[in-house]
Amino acid sequence: TGLVTLDPAFMNTASTKSAITFLDGEKGILRYRGIPIEQLAEKSRFVETAYLLIYGELPTQPELDRFSNLLTRHSLIHEDMKHFFDGFPSTAHPMAVLSSMVCSLSTYYPEEHDINDKEKMDITIARLISKVRTIAAYAYKKSIGQPFIYPQNNLKYAANFMHMMFAVPAEPYVVDPDIESAINLLFILHADHEQNCSTSTVRLVGSSRANLFASVAAGILALWGPLHGGANQEVIEMLEAIQRDGGNVKKYVELAKDKNSNFRLMGFGHRVYKNFDPRAKIIKQTADKILAKLGIQDPLLDIAKELEEAALKDSYFVERKLYPNVDFYSGIIYRALGFPTNMFTVLFAIGRLPGWIAHWKEMMEDTSTKIGRPRQIYTGPTERLYVPIEQRS
Ligand code: CMC
Repeated sequence: TGLVTLDPAFMNTASTKSAITFLDGEKGILRYRGIPIEQLAEKSRFVETAYLLIYGELPTQPELDRFSNLLTRHSLIHEDMKHFFDGFPSTAHPMAVLSSMVCSLSTYYPEEHDINDKEKMDITIARLISKVRTIAAYAYKKSIGQPFIYPQNNLKYAANFMHMMFAVPAEPYVVDPDIESAINLLFILHADHEQNCSTSTVRLVGSSRANLFASVAAGILALWGPLHGGANQEVIEMLEAIQRDGGNVKKYVELAKDKNSNFRLMGFGHRVYKNFDPRAKIIKQTADKILAKLGIQDPLLDIAKELEEAALKDSYFVERKLYPNVDFYSGIIYRALGFPTNMFTVLFAIGRLPGWIAHWKEMMEDTSTKIGRPRQIYTGPTERLYVPIEQRS
């Protein structure tokens, strides 16, 4: 059986080789297929970046047109799926709904997950990327008691999503171009992050040859946790608590340092980034810009900045190299765009989808991939006798 080494949280064990995303945590570098995140954030759109991650190259114009057309063609969900929404309570967390619905897609499209059939696989991928928006928007509409708004073929990816979220039958939602670019930018920044918890989940589930929808449904659930994507919702809830508490940021910094308190500064710290999170840097600038453009003054942004300043001056955070991560400022932008707090992690999931797909595909295309099966170090009794119930004390 050989020697088994113990590395419970994968602190320094690589689970795979991958050619998708390059990350240098010491230098704060993040590149998709070699292209710096800063360049993509400035110049690309989400759909193009999704193509880059999944297919390995920036698309030519015909390639991009074909991919965009597939997304447009597959934006509706099956009418029967709309009934599922009636089964959830209106208070259901949209991440639970999203995962259930994505898993349900495998009941409607069970056949088309053969990695060797490129044409069918392209459609499966497009279906998932396109329908996830529709599902997310429908989950929101259901939760507020409004009718579902169908996708519109003349709208681009982000604009179509905003339309399904915020239009009502009596009034179309006209998407402000600044808002559309902000959504594109945020989705791009979330699009991949190599072997994070949810992506590793997608790979592990997929390694048993589970289909793409099932694997991604599992990834969505991993993302939901507050130490992962769920942190973006927690950040706003924390900032709101600080606001209710009179804006006393120092108190919360002290609380986060207290090991008995169980409280952490949400949106702070990262397993890999030990200097700064390049995504957080861009998001912070964007938060300032978009709020100014929309003429919104959000007191939570001021509290967030004060909290960041107070934490970065504190030796506890300096010594442990804890900096704001991608989730720290993103929620402030989502709020300004009109999203309710419980939708923030859903937005992260829509953004992360191309990464999950790219990793699932990379793994499936590698014929040497084996099922993921971690080992353990057993600490229980090695052998005991069975005791009949009447003799147990
Ligand atoms: N507030 C207070 N202390 C912290 C924090 C924090 N946010 N993060 C880490 N620490 C402390 C931790 O208590 C430990 O201290 P000590 O050495 O005294 O025991 C030390 O810093 C190292 O932390 P760790 O928990 O061993 O680090 P990790 O790599 O296992 O965890 C993390 C990384 C992101 C889960 C963690 O920093 C955290 O819980 N942050 C808050 C949640 C959050 O913002 N998550 C989003 C992560 S980025 C995007 C994403 O993945 O979705």
